[in-house]
Amino acid sequence: MKLCAGVSILCAVVFAPIPVFAEEQPVAPYEMSNTNAGAAPIKGLAVFDALNGQAGIRRIVDRLVDRSVSDPRIAEIFINRDLTRLRRTLREQICYLAGGPCTYTGRTMADAHADMGVQTRDFNVLVEHLREAMDAERVPFAMQNKLLAKLAPMHRDIVAR
Ligand code: HEM
Repeated sequence: MKLCAGVSILCAVVFAPIPVFAEEQPVAPYEMSNTNAGAAPIKGLAVFDALNGQAGIRRIVDRLVDRSVSDPRIAEIFINRDLTRLRRTLREQICYLAGGPCTYTGRTMADAHADMGVQTRDFNVLVEHLREAMDAERVPFAMQNKLLAKLAPMHRDIVAR
């Protein structure tokens, strides 16, 4: 570009695209472990299969995140957060907890939600969206409950005291 000749660094800065978080942002170093997922996985593949495997989990997580970020009750909590990383690690976490062939590479629930000020009512809204997303995926109610039983105790690490 003629305009940028000789001042390419300046131009690179001035014309750099505004970040839209399409790529994951770096996080402070932490030890990766499946134990960071916050619970032991469900035994067997029944729940993973009921979620319709990896493809179903992807649809459930996308729907859960899309609905959460546009729900005026909790939208504010998601502003300027790394939703690309959230979608990826949440997929891993649900797949792992459901007994699927996945490794969880994210942070602990306490670390991931530290200083976020999540309240019990926010937690319940998110669970409502998860239920709705599983309904949309036609996951039987009993299978939904098995996954939710793993997630519910995480309340104590996610909700601010
Ligand atoms: C059982 C319930 C929940 C689970 C399993 C869960 C899971 C996760 C996971 C896996 C991450 C990413 C971890 C990482 O970056 O290493 C995360 C981050 C996040 N969660 Fe949750 N979460 C839950 C509840 C909530 C609730 C109730 C809210 C707010 C209403 C919330 C808001 C967020 C936000 C905004 C991030 C992004 C943090 C960042 O960018 O630093 N989460 N959550």
